[in-house]
Amino acid sequence: MDKVIIFDTTLRDGEQAAGGTLNVQEKLEIARQLEKLKVDVIEAGFPISSQGDFEAVKLIAKEVRTPIICALARAVPQDIDRAWEAIKGAKHPRIHVFLSSSDIHLGYQLKKSREEVRQTAREMVAKAKKYTDDIEFSPMDASRTEPEYIHQILEAVIDAGATTVNIPDTVGYAIPDEFGKLIEGIIKNVPNISKAVISVHCHDDLGLAVANSLEAVKRGARQVECTINGIGERAGNASMEEIVMAIRTRKDFFDLSTDVDTRQIYKASRLVSELSGFVVQPNKAIVGANAFRHESGIHQDGVIKVPITYEIMDPKTVGIPASSLVLGKLSGRHAFKERLAELGYNLSETELNRTFTAFKELADKKKGVTDRDIESLIAEELRTVSEVYHLDRVQVSCGDRGIPTAAVRLISPDGRTLEDAALGTGPVDAVYKAINRIVGVPNQLTEFAVQSVTEGIDAIGEVLIRIESEGITYTGRGADTDIIVASAKAYMNALNRLLATRKAAG
Ligand code: KIV
Ligand code: ZN
Repeated sequence: MDKVIIFDTTLRDGEQAAGGTLNVQEKLEIARQLEKLKVDVIEAGFPISSQGDFEAVKLIAKEVRTPIICALARAVPQDIDRAWEAIKGAKHPRIHVFLSSSDIHLGYQLKKSREEVRQTAREMVAKAKKYTDDIEFSPMDASRTEPEYIHQILEAVIDAGATTVNIPDTVGYAIPDEFGKLIEGIIKNVPNISKAVISVHCHDDLGLAVANSLEAVKRGARQVECTINGIGERAGNASMEEIVMAIRTRKDFFDLSTDVDTRQIYKASRLVSELSGFVVQPNKAIVGANAFRHESGIHQDGVIKVPITYEIMDPKTVGIPASSLVLGKLSGRHAFKERLAELGYNLSETELNRTFTAFKELADKKKGVTDRDIESLIAEELRTVSEVYHLDRVQVSCGDRGIPTAAVRLISPDGRTLEDAALGTGPVDAVYKAINRIVGVPNQLTEFAVQSVTEGIDAIGEVLIRIESEGITYTGRGADTDIIVASAKAYMNALNRLLATRKAAG
């Protein structure tokens, strides 16, 4: 087989990243983008873990019909029943059963013998197989498990019906050559391995997740589990865009391919960053802001003459907009709409009208409106669609002599106008206190970061915040040319997510 199956776990392992919680609608939106990206498998969640995750997996299974929709389950009957309940409406359902295999986990966590674990793995795969044919099994912490024992477990689960066997480097401990040998050993020593696809799932604790995954592919693995922007538990997972672009760019080396529509990569990256609240570092391979920027004169000279002198990939192949055409206050609705289409946005008439109004307001304040500004406007538009409370006005008074004071006006879910004011240690604190007086949901601000979307004094400022309430973290984002307004929008965004989650939980 010369195709590598791309198994995207952004919505499961990616969402497990501390502070990256997504609500049901956000998960569906990402799943739709993953479908456009043409990944083969979407691991939509871990249904037994919460009611919200169950609902999200169920909705994705119903709405997203092209890829395989996978649900995670521990090797226990209730998990498998719940996973099936969530994905039974999928066109192509898969159950992914996992059970620890390393002596460290068996001894300290499960307190079970190897034989007991092997037996349970076999029985639970057989149970899942009664629901659907497509079953994946993962011996968790495989890279710290004695290879001979992995061979025995894999033989047992394939015998019980597993069609994919996934080898996780759960704690990101493996080194490429060693991990590659583990895969080769599996191919050589598991008698029934030809009945299953070998998959790998690598974590990035030593920064080797992509290298380990590619080494495994070189040695015979044909499914890679990965996430957009590499988000995930602790240091994250192998980054989808890096895996896919390495296989594509170095086809001469791997002689393999994936079905991913790489032109959708950039958009997927922006969406996941926006909804998860995890900012993409500028030097991140493939999707970072600097990934295709040449600073040194020699490099610039080369790229202008012939791009391949210093560019191994064409930015257009990953969907980075080709033109740096800047719109301004004289640009009309038609030009704006065309630009949106080029950037891959297909807005409804109402969304277009609202975004165009926001664009005109921005163009009045800012000399040139760039693609990044437009992306920021659209993100802002999407945020307001799912609002509970709407921020109507915010006004502050501050400086080195006065007491920072804020007045805010919100529109309540039933359309009432609610106003209040507060003093604070600074203008943002005053705004947050004034909002708190109206909304009245106790929470703690745990993170606050401001960055500018583009260069220049008139740039849009984007604020990212995280708040915590009853042990759950909610992310909020807001953008505006005024950073106090952006901060207020970000806070409202986080509060609205909190309120929506509580409402969904009943
Ligand atoms: O890292 C891991 O081992 C996992 C398993 C559930 C596959 O995420
Ligand atoms: Zn994992």
